[in-house]
Amino acid sequence: MKILFYMPHADAASWLHDFARALPEANLREWQPGDTAPADFAVVWRPPREMLAGRDDLRAIFNLGAGVDAILALEHDAPGTLPRRTPLIRLEDTGMAPQMAEYVAHAALRYLRRFDDYQTQQSERRWQVLDAHPRDTFTVGVLGLGVLGAHVAKTLAAFGMPVRGYSRSARQIGGITTFAGDAQFDAFLDGVKLLVNLLPHTPDTQDVLNAQTFSKLAKGAYLVNVARGGHLVEQDLLDALASGQLSAATLDVFREEPLPADHPFWREPRITVTPHVSALTLREESVVQVTRKMAALMRGETVSGVVDVERGY
Ligand code: NAP
Ligand code: GLV
Repeated sequence: MKILFYMPHADAASWLHDFARALPEANLREWQPGDTAPADFAVVWRPPREMLAGRDDLRAIFNLGAGVDAILALEHDAPGTLPRRTPLIRLEDTGMAPQMAEYVAHAALRYLRRFDDYQTQQSERRWQVLDAHPRDTFTVGVLGLGVLGAHVAKTLAAFGMPVRGYSRSARQIGGITTFAGDAQFDAFLDGVKLLVNLLPHTPDTQDVLNAQTFSKLAKGAYLVNVARGGHLVEQDLLDALASGQLSAATLDVFREEPLPADHPFWREPRITVTPHVSALTLREESVVQVTRKMAALMRGETVSGVVDVERGY
């Protein structure tokens, strides 16, 4: 079995070592420009076009992340780049769901319990009890009820906040009020106090976090974007903060990453910026999942996590 690996900025030697330990019979190599030698599988994160173009020999392409927007952009920009009959398989959880739940729960509790206001008071040496947000009206709306969104929704519901979820097709999750499709989008948003975005980035979801969306939320709502920067209309967020329609935002993803040094988000005290770390790809868990799926495919079995290229996720 021949495996091509590509993950920029990663410790490739450690990844190759772990793959070799899991698949001692495999022939592994890190892809280098010009490498067109045969391969059975490609394991990639944000690969360049020339790595995949014309690679009809591949049995599958494994994406070392949950989001496949970057790889599908190659196909969008140059149709025919992705080998037509080769499945593209994304990571499913591999330790990302608990990380995402920690990140979002931290932001939710910080807003619910007004830690930002207490921090301001501390800087002024002011001892004053503030009215807490009532938990039963601190309605959380989670956009996307997939592997990560469903886990985040359940985690927040366990704190006693009312939680709603929104997906493309109808979902049923205990303790969560669910909404699906365009027809139910406004009902989902109506009165939400904390909006969490965990949608995949597709043509349908581009710019979904915009002024019209914000206007449907409760006055003074909070935003947590942990999906992709392309979901957020940046100026609409700044305007919503200026008008008071939104109170604050926690952002992990940006249209341009790294966020440019002169970007206004750095200077806005109501925006918290983190460098795309809400749910990292964990090597050990990812190697286990990917190698199990490779073995299943070699036996002619089907596997989960295959991306619907037309749908975009
Ligand atoms: P997933 O399992 O594919 O779930 C996607 C969810 O979004 C599904 O519930 C899907 O609906 C829903 N959806 C898709 N298009 C929609 C539309 N047009 N309208 C309404 N709902 C729609 O994805 P996941 O594993 O949870 O990951 C979600 C995203 O998180 C990834 O795509 C990635 O961009 C982001 N992410 C970020 C980080 C980070 O560190 N910041 C880490 C990992 C992932 P159905 O249930 O009906 O299919
Ligand atoms: C990270 O952003 C991922 O999509 O896994």
